[in-house]
This record gives sequence, structure tokens and C-alpha cells, in this order.
Amino acid sequence: MTTYETLEVSRDGPVLHVRLNRPDVRNAFNGVVVDELQVAFRAADDDDEARVVVLSGNGKSFSAGADLGWMREQADLPKDENAKSADHMARTFLTIARCKKPVVGRIHGHALGGGTGLTAAVDMAIATEDCMFGLTEVKLGIVPAVISPFVMQKIGAGRARALFLTGERFDGREAQRIGLVHRAVAVEQLDAAVDQAVGELLTAGPAAVASAKELIRAVDGKTLEDAIPVTSNWIAELRATPEAKEGFAAFLEKRKAGWIR
Ligand code: COA
Repeated sequence: MTTYETLEVSRDGPVLHVRLNRPDVRNAFNGVVVDELQVAFRAADDDDEARVVVLSGNGKSFSAGADLGWMREQADLPKDENAKSADHMARTFLTIARCKKPVVGRIHGHALGGGTGLTAAVDMAIATEDCMFGLTEVKLGIVPAVISPFVMQKIGAGRARALFLTGERFDGREAQRIGLVHRAVAVEQLDAAVDQAVGELLTAGPAAVASAKELIRAVDGKTLEDAIPVTSNWIAELRATPEAKEGFAAFLEKRKAGWIR
């Protein structure tokens, strides 16, 4: 397995753990973290044994967002290099969002700026009720540009208007209420809640889970009428796959499907 400077990556059976590992700076991410996240999530795509990825942060906080020392350095670069570095960061968020495996976020402590962005980029985030979120960029004289599409996909433009403009902080309960996180739980229940989410994903057919992720992209934004050719073809193809045949047979024969260990 690749060795990383700013991440801890390990696999426990079918679960790949990617842990941000700069606890001294609350897992703020610099260029190395951005590079390594992209490498780790591309490797997750290609890892046939990995069925679920869990993204978390070591230490007191999930992530304090972009490393502000690094941000300042990027601003001093020639214009094209500055733009290239921002494009690379955006593509890293995209690699996480588009990961072929479902991605569960374990979010605790603080998830500010890009930390809120990473929370939005995963498929299902499980947060502590007291975790502090915020699109705090305006407090620093910038905007949550790169992360905006990921955050807005989860919370919508209406809520973004208040949160992007004020930069106000909000807790995990509010993050759940606005759809940024899937569940908010007490701190002592966080690991059990993450395990439960992972367990649900592992009892689902792996190809079906990957297909479900693509289906959402394919249907999102379509009218009900325009969705029909997409969705009818989709189920026609899916129900003829070996995995679907095994799923139907397992149910009818009152046994567990082959993918459940
Ligand atoms: N970039 C660079 N360094 C950061 C950082 C960031 N985004 N966030 C925290 N750090 C560093 C601090 O400078 C401090 O370094 P030091 O020990 O050398 O002084 C260290 O991490 C610990 O931070 P500290 O503020 O002492 O910890 P805390 O637990 O009291 O507070 C936060 C944690 C996350 C609430 C606070 O650090 C914070 O508000 N960070 C900025 C978050 C932000 O606005 N992010 C948006 C970026 S676009």
C-alpha cells in the first residue's frame, strides 16, 4: 500500500479507512493533503477488495479546512499557477464525490470551510451533534468557491445564501436539519453510528450500490418525463445482471445473498 505523509490509510476487510493526519493543525489541508487525497481515492476506485471508504480525521477535529499558510502561498504564485492549484483542489473534491465506492464521513470536532466541503463531498456523513460547521471563508475575506457546488448539492442555493454570506457557525444538529449530514449523534455514539452505516452498505449488492450512485447523477435535474427513458433502461439492464439474479434468488430461497459475509 502507498505510504502517505498527511493521511493514514488502512484497509480492514472490505472497509478502507482514509484518515486525515495533521492533528496539530486540526487537519487543515495543504497541497500535500490535496495530492494525497486524490491518490488515496483513486486507489480506492481500483481496490477490488474495498467496498466502502470511511473518511475521518485524527485528533480533536475532522478538518479546519484549507491551511491558511498554504492559501497565502498560493495567492503569491503567478496567476496561472494559482489557478492550476485551485483547479487541482476542485478535482480532488470531485474524485472523492465520484469515488466508485460509497464514502462515509466520520465528522467530529470542527469541520470548517473546506472541512464542511469535504463533509458535503462524501455520500453520507455521520457527525457528532456538537461538531462545529461553517462556511467561514467570508470571515477571511474569501468565498467558499471550490466547495460551493458540493455544498449546494446537499443544502440547496437558498440555505447557501445565508450560510455563505454570513460565515456563521452551526452545529451537527443543524447540519442534519439542513441535509448537510445524514445523521447527527452524541459523541459517544459516533463510531457505532459509522459502523451501522458501513454495515448497511455491506449488506447491499456492491454493483447495485455503485449503480445507485450513478443513477442519482443521471436523474438529478431531469423532468419526470425526461427521466423515464433513463430510469426504465436502467432497471431493465440492472435486473438482468448476475448480481440481481443472485439477489432475487437469495430472497426467494430464504438465504443470504452471496455478497453478505
Ligand atoms: N490553517 C492553518 N492552521 C490552522 C488552521 C487552518 N485552517 N486551523 C487551525 N490551525 C492551526 C492553528 O494556527 C494552531 O496552530 P499553533 O498550534 O501553531 O498555534 C493549531 O492549528 C491549533 O489551532 P487552535 O486554534 O489553537 O485550536 P482550537 O482547537 O482552539 O480551535 C479551530 C480549532 C478549528 C476552531 C480553529 O483553529 C479555527 O477556527 N481555525 C480556522 C478555521 C477556518 O476558518 N477555516 C476556513 C479555512 S478557508
